[in-house]
Amino acid sequence: MLTPTLLFVAAAIPATLGQSVNITFLTGLLGSLETAGLTQLATFAQSINSTSVGQSLLANISNGSPHLLFAPTDAALRSASANVTSDPNTLADVLAYHVVPGNFTDNVPTYPNVTLGRTLLTDGNLVQLEGGNKAQVLAWATRADGHVHILNQRNDSVVVNSTSFGNVTIWSIDQVLQIPQNLATTIPADNISLTGVDTVLQTVQTPFFNSTTNSTTNTTLFNALNAGFHGFTFFAPNTTAIQSAQSSLQGLNSTQLQNLVYNHFLNGTTVYSTQFSNLTTAAGEKLGFTFNSTGQYVTDSATNTTARIVQPDVLLPNGVIHVIDRVFLDTNADASAASSAIASATSAATASQSSQTAPLGTSTPTGGSTAGGSAASALGVNWGMMVAAVGVVLGGVIAVV
Ligand SMILES: *[C@@H]1O[C@H](CO)[C@@H](O)[C@H](O)[C@H]1NC(C)=O
Ligand SMILES: *[C@@H]1O[C@H](CO)[C@@H](O)[C@H](O)[C@H]1NC(C)=O
Ligand SMILES: *[C@@H]1O[C@H](CO)[C@@H](O)[C@H](O)[C@H]1NC(C)=O
Ligand SMILES: *[C@@H]1O[C@H](CO)[C@@H](O)[C@H](O)[C@H]1NC(C)=O
Ligand SMILES: *[C@@H]1O[C@H](CO)[C@@H](O)[C@H](O)[C@H]1NC(C)=O
Ligand SMILES: *[C@@H]1O[C@H](CO)[C@@H](O)[C@H](O)[C@H]1NC(C)=O
Ligand SMILES: *[C@@H]1O[C@H](CO)[C@@H](O)[C@H](O)[C@H]1NC(C)=O
Ligand SMILES: *[C@@H]1O[C@H](CO)[C@@H](O)[C@H](O)[C@H]1NC(C)=O
Ligand SMILES: *[C@@H]1O[C@H](CO)[C@@H](O)[C@H](O)[C@H]1NC(C)=O
Ligand SMILES: *[C@@H]1O[C@H](CO)[C@@H](O)[C@H](O)[C@H]1NC(C)=O
Ligand SMILES: *[C@@H]1O[C@H](CO)[C@@H](O)[C@H](O)[C@H]1NC(C)=O
Ligand SMILES: *[C@@H]1O[C@H](CO)[C@@H](O)[C@H](O)[C@H]1NC(C)=O
Repeated sequence: MLTPTLLFVAAAIPATLGQSVNITFLTGLLGSLETAGLTQLATFAQSINSTSVGQSLLANISNGSPHLLFAPTDAALRSASANVTSDPNTLADVLAYHVVPGNFTDNVPTYPNVTLGRTLLTDGNLVQLEGGNKAQVLAWATRADGHVHILNQRNDSVVVNSTSFGNVTIWSIDQVLQIPQNLATTIPADNISLTGVDTVLQTVQTPFFNSTTNSTTNTTLFNALNAGFHGFTFFAPNTTAIQSAQSSLQGLNSTQLQNLVYNHFLNGTTVYSTQFSNLTTAAGEKLGFTFNSTGQYVTDSATNTTARIVQPDVLLPNGVIHVIDRVFLDTNADASAASSAIASATSAATASQSSQTAPLGTSTPTGGSTAGGSAASALGVNWGMMVAAVGVVLGGVIAVV
């Protein structure tokens, strides 16, 4: 059954963006999925051929270079929402989020150390990172139970089996992965503890260029993070931390509160936990990072306050949140440091569209995940090495390339 269907599919799939499907390879890959009991996925992989996203996904995964495929089991796909699996365009985007170009076969680090990889998901309705058509990332790590978990998913997704075909490593997972959702959807989610910080974000104003109205207006930082900013990093105090700091926060005037929030925030650059190094906040203050066997920590240098990063890499369509357990009561602002950091981040993010990423240790970046044609970046398994490899340090700001 499989081969004749596939040959028909292949004949119908045009070469898109300079890539074409290798039907021999794809037939073999789908055969391996069926052998591994992943029959639903094999069927769905064929049904996305009617969409351009699906065609370029099938072309990319069959190009011979290493890929990691997170393959939902039949049970996972059966329990997935019908509106994910019934519409080929939605399904193609969801499956694109399950494919990571690169070789990640070396040991997966133990949480909170993580592995980050850039997937093939570039749909501009779902991903709005800095620097153009940058693909969304996925984070995973070995948890205390000894299993590899995909991090910060609404439904905890665990790798339950492994096989391969050619250079494609196939990891079966027990839940379909959810594409990162916006801030308004993410903050109330029950798998993170961020209620409280939303209220603070609602009270802080920020100038914001609205491309719909083509003008700069003031809006709340909540609105700008929810829909507007392309690329940001926010160290978000968890619910307990906000409660503990409540009386201090209430004593601040609007300028002080804005500075305080800006000292938890980087505008224009998305810095994942594999890339932590000295950073300059949007208010111009310095953040430093330490790591040891008890965890990852971030220190606000002006107040010498250290917070534990209790949940790294909460992914959003347009940035990343790292949940921390303290509020930095830092109301200082160094406007020139802040504007220089933002300018560097913006220029680096723009420049990165055409730059090449060096080979990243065990994670080899491969081409084709961005509509603009730049290389997909594997974001590494070890933060120390990755900072050197993928971070361009400009004015204390790490620009993700
Ligand atoms: C297609 O994939 C097969 C392996 O499945 C490989 O032998 C062949 O060289 C590939 N063809 C092209 C044009 O890359
Ligand atoms: C794991 O995959 C192998 C084939 O690669 C398959 O035979 C086996 O049934 C799978 N096990 C589970 C628990 O899915
Ligand atoms: C996709 O494949 C199906 C068979 O699985 C075929 O009926 C359909 O015409 C193909 N569509 C395109 C656009 O390739
Ligand atoms: C696997 O990828 C390497 C490059 O990373 C390439 O040299 C090799 O030919 C590929 N193997 C297959 C079976 O495609
Ligand atoms: C899927 O359907 C459910 C219920 O029918 C709805 O609540 C949800 O918003 C839909 N999701 C998407 C992504 O359309
Ligand atoms: C991945 O890299 C390792 C070396 O680090 C190599 O042994 C392995 O064959 C590679 N796997 C794939 C699928 O390319
Ligand atoms: C941008 O302007 C449009 C039209 O007035 C408005 O609906 C939207 O909420 C604005 N965006 C933000 C983030 O304020
Ligand atoms: C936005 O403003 C710029 C500069 O004033 C102008 O060149 C551009 O055409 C405007 N775009 C829209 C969509 O109005
Ligand atoms: C935005 O707020 C700043 C200070 O809070 C004010 O100086 C500026 O005029 C406001 N801009 C607009 C467009 O309302
Ligand atoms: C806020 O308080 C600081 C420190 O007391 C003061 O310098 C600043 O002028 C105040 N700003 C406003 C808008 O009240
Ligand atoms: C994470 O990596 C750092 C640096 O290599 C190491 O000190 C720490 O023990 C690691 N943490 C875990 C939980 O493996
Ligand atoms: C916030 O983080 C601290 C430190 O890990 C933890 O004790 C506390 O329970 C967390 N708060 C919530 C609401 O999860």
